[in-house]
Amino acid sequence: MTVSQTSERGHLRHLISLADLPRAEIERIIERASTYLTPTGQPPSHDATLRGRTVANLFFEPSTRTRASFELAAKRLSADVLNLDVSMSSRAKGETVLDTIYTLQAMQIDVFVVRDASTGVPARIAEHVAPHVCVLNAGESEVSHPTQGLLDVMTIQRHKGDVGALRVAIVGDIRHSRVARSAAEALTKLGVGELRLVGPTELLPEQTIANARVYTDLADGIADADVVMALRIQKERFAQLGDIPDPQEYYRRFGLSARALTHAKNDAIVMHPGPMNRGVEIDGSIADGPQSVIQEQVTNGLAVRMAVLALVHEHIAAETAQC
Ligand code: CP
Repeated sequence: MTVSQTSERGHLRHLISLADLPRAEIERIIERASTYLTPTGQPPSHDATLRGRTVANLFFEPSTRTRASFELAAKRLSADVLNLDVSMSSRAKGETVLDTIYTLQAMQIDVFVVRDASTGVPARIAEHVAPHVCVLNAGESEVSHPTQGLLDVMTIQRHKGDVGALRVAIVGDIRHSRVARSAAEALTKLGVGELRLVGPTELLPEQTIANARVYTDLADGIADADVVMALRIQKERFAQLGDIPDPQEYYRRFGLSARALTHAKNDAIVMHPGPMNRGVEIDGSIADGPQSVIQEQVTNGLAVRMAVLALVHEHIAAETAQC
């Protein structure tokens, strides 16, 4: 990636990938995110950090959690928010993504939040926006989902403390998973004790990620794990429909059931980025059970997105102060 995620002044400007983000910046985002959490039942945190600024959500792939939480994060920081209806946008008439960006930039957008099925789109946009404008990757093909990686690490730390002492197992369709890649990047930066990738051979990456150990047996792969993260089979990313695993057979071999989970530590936490396919990669009783932190992942995701927006605002404020 050629685009720099930090400005010359040292502010976070873009968030495209965790692979190039220093450990200190990851820690700073998570620390800031923690300040936005409020006790259950209390009103959510609001402030005026982004008053007068505009955030545009451009989701060229479906999303519930990421899109809703970026929208709420921006609104809770007092930004104006544009949610472009991409199915009705002029991209459907052949307009290039950069022309869409230039058009919206002319409407004084300060932050673009972008999800796209093609690799490199967020970085390419970041290379072409005005100097004060920021680009946040909200999910890029199979390669990167940085705010997801941050919220996953934040959730693990809040339950288990320092990741250096932990054994983390990521289970499922690793090959097509930007979630697995970003989680692995963040965990590796923070010095995870042991990272395991678990799944059938055809769903494992051709080259392992972040020096993780690879397992093709669920019981072995999650044995004594502190954290077990289940992933959805990303049907939309298979080149041929015939290659998609049979759901029942997959659940039998790799589904997180109560029985399977006995191989992990008794106090292991169970994670899933969502959306879930209950009865395929995870049993409903586990998703809703006492070891599940899936809803906390969602809550922490909103806090992480507030933190990232607040931090890139330092760049916007510094750049526009000079105008
Ligand atoms: N985890 C995640 O990215 O979920 P959405 O696709 O719903 O945003």
